[in-house]
Amino acid sequence: MTTNERQVTFQEISKEGYKYIAGGVVSLNRKVDPHIIFREGKGSKIYDVNGKEYIDYHAAFAPHFLGHNCEAVNNAVIEVINSQFSLIGSGTNELEISLAKQLCNLIPSLDLIQITNTGSEATAHAIRLSRAYTGKDHIILMLGGYNGSHNDVARIVLPSLKQIGQRKVRGEYLFLSSSAGIPEEVKQKIHCVNFNDLASVEYVLQKYPVACVLTEPVLQNIGVVLPKSGYLQGLVDLCESYGAVCIFDEVKTGFRSALSGYQSIANVTPHLSVFGKAIANGYPLGVIGGKREIMGLFDEEEPNKRVLIAGTYNAHPINTAAAIATLKILQNSEVYDYISRISNLWYSGLEALFVEKGIAAVVSRNASASCTYFSKEAPNDVHDILDNHDFDFDLKYRKALIEKGIYQIPIACKQNSVSYAHSEDDIYKTLDLTRQYLRSL
Ligand SMILES: Cc1ncc(COP(=O)(O)O)c(C=O)c1O
Repeated sequence: MTTNERQVTFQEISKEGYKYIAGGVVSLNRKVDPHIIFREGKGSKIYDVNGKEYIDYHAAFAPHFLGHNCEAVNNAVIEVINSQFSLIGSGTNELEISLAKQLCNLIPSLDLIQITNTGSEATAHAIRLSRAYTGKDHIILMLGGYNGSHNDVARIVLPSLKQIGQRKVRGEYLFLSSSAGIPEEVKQKIHCVNFNDLASVEYVLQKYPVACVLTEPVLQNIGVVLPKSGYLQGLVDLCESYGAVCIFDEVKTGFRSALSGYQSIANVTPHLSVFGKAIANGYPLGVIGGKREIMGLFDEEEPNKRVLIAGTYNAHPINTAAAIATLKILQNSEVYDYISRISNLWYSGLEALFVEKGIAAVVSRNASASCTYFSKEAPNDVHDILDNHDFDFDLKYRKALIEKGIYQIPIACKQNSVSYAHSEDDIYKTLDLTRQYLRSL
């Protein structure tokens, strides 16, 4: 089938989508060009409706850490359905207790947890908890971070230099909302600073009554931007000095970086943490957890101090069973060793190809998560990316590889994700096709 014939099928299906779905696609960040209509996923591969195979490095924005349709996880889901386990919505159940117990045992910063359906719900609860705990309203977020879709965090993830202006030595940047409909009063309470910039965090903490600093420990929505040594501990220390809550948003880093989160790699203990994505390998589940004295506000005796958490589908047995099955596999230490080896094989192969071709490129990485920046050095923040990254080539490169059957989402600076299902053959094939493309330039 030619590219044109394939495009015709995609266009026909997507035209139908436009008739019934606002924007033609759900979750509008999935609206990309080329607009491929996918149907199946198995292991490291995804297949479009015409049957074309792609080695998948997008992993649906990262949850599929064990690969698509992991049999053991699916079996756990099927088992829970067949066992008549149901969402009763009254009292507790054994699955949620089992998951909670495992998480508290695996991640030392979690005294108590709560379970949601998405990462966005979990970050919203984390912010609400920190406001209730501190009695303050303002929050600090990172430029280049993504923490969900609700009002308090819906900002443009990668703004242009024109929008934010040059780097500030000590200061904040405008909250550039990524959505209409956010009240002005909300925007005024949100302060964005550059990642890896403790002086600016302190500047905001001194100026406003800040409830929390909410950050991904590694910025993984603008590729992979790693924290400098001492930065994450510096955030916790500053929060403690100024009476704010330090929240690590591990929705992307959790379970992918290490079983106990990126916090275990950095050896830093946040006050609250949020998890999602890889925890249930593609089934919808979010977790918020942390210090007993803060989490306890969900069950505070005094009604006007109590923080609401409620959700009809929270800890749905299907998702909870999927998370328990995923954790069971992840506790086999061989998983992380294997993924690390296979990821490094890809990264070193890529680096060699770019050197061979004389293209300035750096493969920034955090375990299975990576991003190739077309610049001389890995970035420390948004300004480094805006100043140095070749956005046009990034997009061209992604699209050319998609055509060859390697799927990295066609949006510049988006994370790639290797899974436990990727084989050496997948990596060698990916490198061969990349070599072919680079040599054609
Ligand atoms: C770091 C981070 N936090 C929170 C979220 C929101 O999670 P969800 O899409 O499950 O609401 C995301 C989603 O991409 C994320 O990457």
